[in-house]
Amino acid sequence: MQAVTADNDFLERVLAAGAILVNIGDIDILLEQILTEARFFTNADAGSIYTVEGDLLSFGHSQNETITGRGERIPYTRFTIPKNRASMAGYVACTGDILNIDDVRKIPAEAPYSFDDSYDKISFYRTRSTLTLPLINNRQVVVGVLQLINARTDKREFIPFHSAMELLGKYYATLGALALERAMMTRTLLMRMVNMTEFRDPKETGPHVNRVGSYSVAIYDSWAKTNNVEEDDRSHNRDVLRMAAMLHDVGKTGISDAILKKPGSLTKDERRVMENHCLIGAEVLRNCESTFDEMARDIALCHHESWDGSGYPHGLQGEDIPFMARITAIADVFDALSSSRAYKNPWSDNMVKDEMERLFSSKFDPGLKHHFMSQLDVLREIKDTYPDQ
Ligand SMILES: [Fe+2]
Ligand SMILES: [Fe+2]
Repeated sequence: MQAVTADNDFLERVLAAGAILVNIGDIDILLEQILTEARFFTNADAGSIYTVEGDLLSFGHSQNETITGRGERIPYTRFTIPKNRASMAGYVACTGDILNIDDVRKIPAEAPYSFDDSYDKISFYRTRSTLTLPLINNRQVVVGVLQLINARTDKREFIPFHSAMELLGKYYATLGALALERAMMTRTLLMRMVNMTEFRDPKETGPHVNRVGSYSVAIYDSWAKTNNVEEDDRSHNRDVLRMAAMLHDVGKTGISDAILKKPGSLTKDERRVMENHCLIGAEVLRNCESTFDEMARDIALCHHESWDGSGYPHGLQGEDIPFMARITAIADVFDALSSSRAYKNPWSDNMVKDEMERLFSSKFDPGLKHHFMSQLDVLREIKDTYPDQ
């Protein structure tokens, strides 16, 4: 990456970054992408993005090339801070102003905000310059905050952010805010469908479907990188899969409580009724008009099919099972094993790994085994991000 100055090249990068955001529908994928693109066009070493949730700022995503370059994990996955003027992000959320700070350790004592160095301390990182931008929607409400950390030269020395980045950054943040609002609405609608399912089956909770969506994306992403899937296709598929996988069990809305909530095991006939949830899900999602509809339908219909043909509803085998349904099946079973359910405690990490390994010889696509295993650390991070309530 080049050091960034106020030239046409920089303008082009901002415009290209903004254009990418308008096509993303899933909120998690979007937050990550807003941050990735902004770090790219400002050549920032690190950054975080927050969403405003009432009186709080929720820390959504964080990236840090120095820390991940050392092969370490980013220390925090999710936390909240009060939305007030005491922190830099809080100040920007309250005022809607941009803060471009050359050195956070030289913030004047009379400034309303100060720099909290606890993150630097636990991660052995040194924050110097920051550019903190408000994500303001078209009703002039701040819906999020984007904080970029440590602009760099070509030689990766930390420098202040160029003043030209303030105005263009503000323009980019506005596009981000509009995309964020739309993605929030989409997530709300998806969660309403999930909540309806949860009324019927208490196992199908918000955290469960969020985990299944994110696990599926992590497995897909590893596969896509290895198979050199083009960046545009990869990011489109990540986005659609994140949302489509959340609806895998939407067909349970059509199964009676007597079966869904029956304590103990089901009879053969009851199991057959239960298995209908795949067909009902496909029916709910019929009339495919978009890639999302098509993928959601494939997943709802085929997430209980098995590689060896022993699954249901149609006993499909191998590559006849749609690819994204094969991925979601892995994510769904992994979550069932590693979470606590009314009838069981969560299994230990080793027990889950052994059982998953065993299932790769019959139930799951063996070509995805390496991608699942290589992502185990990431999957555990996701699990911490969406704990059961
Ligand atoms: Fe299911
Ligand atoms: Fe599920």
